Amino acid sequence: MPRSLSTALTRTLGITLPIVQGPMNGGSTPEMVAAVSNAGGIGSLAAANFDVPTIQTKVAAIRALTSRPFCVNLFVLDTPAPAADQVRDALDRLQPIREELGLAHATVPGRYCDEFREQLDMLVALKVPVASFTFGLLDAASIRRLHDAGSLVIGTASNVAEACAWEKNGADAVCAQGAEAGGHRGTFIGEPDASMIGTLALVPQIVDAISLPVIAAGGIMDGRGIAAALTLGAQAAQLGTAFLMTAESPIHPAWQEKIRGSTDTSTRTTRSFTGRPARGIVNDFMRRMSAFEDVVPAYPVQHALTTEIRKAAAVANRPEFMSLWAGQAAGLSRRRAEGMPAAELVRALAEEARAAFG
Ligand SMILES: Cc1cc2nc3c(=O)[nH]c(=O)nc-3n(C[C@H](O)[C@H](O)[C@H](O)COP(=O)(O)O)c2cc1C
Repeated sequence: MPRSLSTALTRTLGITLPIVQGPMNGGSTPEMVAAVSNAGGIGSLAAANFDVPTIQTKVAAIRALTSRPFCVNLFVLDTPAPAADQVRDALDRLQPIREELGLAHATVPGRYCDEFREQLDMLVALKVPVASFTFGLLDAASIRRLHDAGSLVIGTASNVAEACAWEKNGADAVCAQGAEAGGHRGTFIGEPDASMIGTLALVPQIVDAISLPVIAAGGIMDGRGIAAALTLGAQAAQLGTAFLMTAESPIHPAWQEKIRGSTDTSTRTTRSFTGRPARGIVNDFMRRMSAFEDVVPAYPVQHALTTEIRKAAAVANRPEFMSLWAGQAAGLSRRRAEGMPAAELVRALAEEARAAFG
């Protein structure tokens, strides 16, 4: 059993604690990222939904708050070209919910996401210390460009084949995403259902299959979980849901309230919100759209088509139509009403992990 929180990966990253604050679209801010990095872990900014100037601004904001290593995360995506009738059908299915929120009939968006290649060029130009990726595999030439810029590269894998693919293309570490994890599944090889592999099963199988350091993600909420991940051979633990309840978290109070009230059975994965399976707290939107799980257009199309609904639901304080992403262990959240500062959470996690190791 490992006895120390120092691992080869923490030394490579230049951090003191094996704690990664997971990138979270809509959930990670420069303040959170910097607080975690300053506390000895590494914070990650989710940048997939940002245009190029916003990525630049947010990275500058992180750099103004910390001189420690940090990570920026993107989704590996091609530009989508959905069939017009598929988009119209998808919009029609959403119309009853739009009406309940007082939204007019939607028009077809001009585009569905920011251009991944432009976002990637900006990461290279910004020379970020660490770049992480999910939803797909970055080609070897792009990984070399990031290395030449001085960035380390982390690829997300939800099965062994994906971890091997990242190793083959030259990544520096793999984030093993167990089925318990909150937010989107990163699966890009095989059927997503077949890759709903629990963290306890996934991490050691990936550790045995590749020679890169592995970061365990999914269902880790406290020091016991971090100690367990290290015992399985991971060299760091990535936590998302736990950070949604910190003082730096920007998420809607109603979303935090739902996490506060959640139990072991509160979450499920759904394609309904975005067209890619993602784990969140079950609500009316998920229940009402469940019949269309298999026919909604793939990410990022459905994501773009539900954006107005999710925004209007937030303004109207109606969590029944919001995407309440959270992991299976949300019930272990620190439920303090005022929100624990992220740095305090990192320190508590480290203390608990040391105690778990005895
Ligand atoms: C609200 C939310 C948004 C997320 N967005 C991203 C993302 O943009 N990119 C990514 O690689 N992972 C994303 N994740 C996954 C987290 O980075 C992390 O791996 C996961 O939350 C770990 O599982 P846990 O929630 O059980 O701690 C997200 C998770 C949540 C809860």
